[in-house]
Amino acid sequence: LLPPNIQMEGCGLRRENCRAKGAAPGFKVAVLGAAGGIGQPLAMLMKMNPLVSVLHLYDVVNSPGVTADISHMDTGAVVRGFLGQSQLEDALTGMDLVIIPAGVPRKPGMTRDDLFNINASIVKTLCEGIAKCCPNAIVNLISNPVNSTVPIAAEVFKKAGTFDPKRLLGVTMLDVVRANTFVAEVLGLDPRDVDVPVVGGHAGVTILPLLSQVKPPCAFNAKEIDYLTNRIQNGGTEVVEAKAGAGSATLSMAYAAVKFADACLRGLRGDAGIIQCAFVASQASIGVTELPFFASKVRLGRSGVEEVHPLGPLNEYERDGLEKAKKELEASIQKGVSFIRK
Ligand code: NAI
Repeated sequence: LLPPNIQMEGCGLRRENCRAKGAAPGFKVAVLGAAGGIGQPLAMLMKMNPLVSVLHLYDVVNSPGVTADISHMDTGAVVRGFLGQSQLEDALTGMDLVIIPAGVPRKPGMTRDDLFNINASIVKTLCEGIAKCCPNAIVNLISNPVNSTVPIAAEVFKKAGTFDPKRLLGVTMLDVVRANTFVAEVLGLDPRDVDVPVVGGHAGVTILPLLSQVKPPCAFNAKEIDYLTNRIQNGGTEVVEAKAGAGSATLSMAYAAVKFADACLRGLRGDAGIIQCAFVASQASIGVTELPFFASKVRLGRSGVEEVHPLGPLNEYERDGLEKAKKELEASIQKGVSFIRK
């Protein structure tokens, strides 16, 4: 079965000529792993995003079906499907933003690190394609373990001579989305009015919610702090166990990924004041930690990450959490770096 973009070439071309004249300006976005549990709802939500003019859906299985399905939605973006390694370069050429939810998810009893062996190679291959075909694209990396896959991507890009720390972002948005939801429940507020910074990384104790910096300003007692910190750190496991072997978070992840991608696109467009948390290249001199990667609040703009915010004042509970997070993060980062350098 050929993807619909090939079957309907004539019509597709006419439509793109019309776009080339400026009918619907927007960004070109590729989703790699588009037929998966996250990929499918993520592709659907990106097709609904008015900032997207072209949407490329790539996977090693089932992408023609997902593409046919999503291409029938009467929204602006032109959708094209790409199947298998031989079509990866076409999928990537010309893209402004590449979102990567490709890889295997957790089953009950697994940690994110248990996914390393399979996902590390997948991320390596996809990033080699990005370095070759769209080295200036912003990359949103979702595949776990994010604490290691982002260093893997950075090493691949360094090897290719294309690494720009501003353009590589590990997606930790789901931790923020969960934190906003759980904190709003405790405070009796609408989650849309709550903003919880979550820093560190994206696995267990490396997920560090800064409850002392919640907006609107509020105070929690010790029991609430323990409950919220544990629930935010184990939100992924809560879903893995509830799905009982049928995968990990997909729908809330797709929502979070699209919220984050939309922020990146608004930054690219030049909107001011776009601040989100993400796992990015980092350094001690900007008031974060001595680790080379860390999830922080970042300001997004035309070139990607334009500013990494300092951690800000932490209370004792958060300082303890930070020490635990740093220990695990350091090992995960090193594991990713060694995978490419070995
Ligand atoms: P899934 O198994 O449902 O989908 C993964 C998709 O990737 C499949 O369609 C598969 O064919 C595709 N794929 C495999 N190898 C590929 C390759 N070489 N190139 C392109 N596509 C390839 O898994 P799901 O649930 O969508 O999760 C995907 C990843 O996202 C997992 O690693 C999971 O741990 C991670 N994840 C990350 C989160 C985060 O907060 N960053 C949250 C939830 C999941």
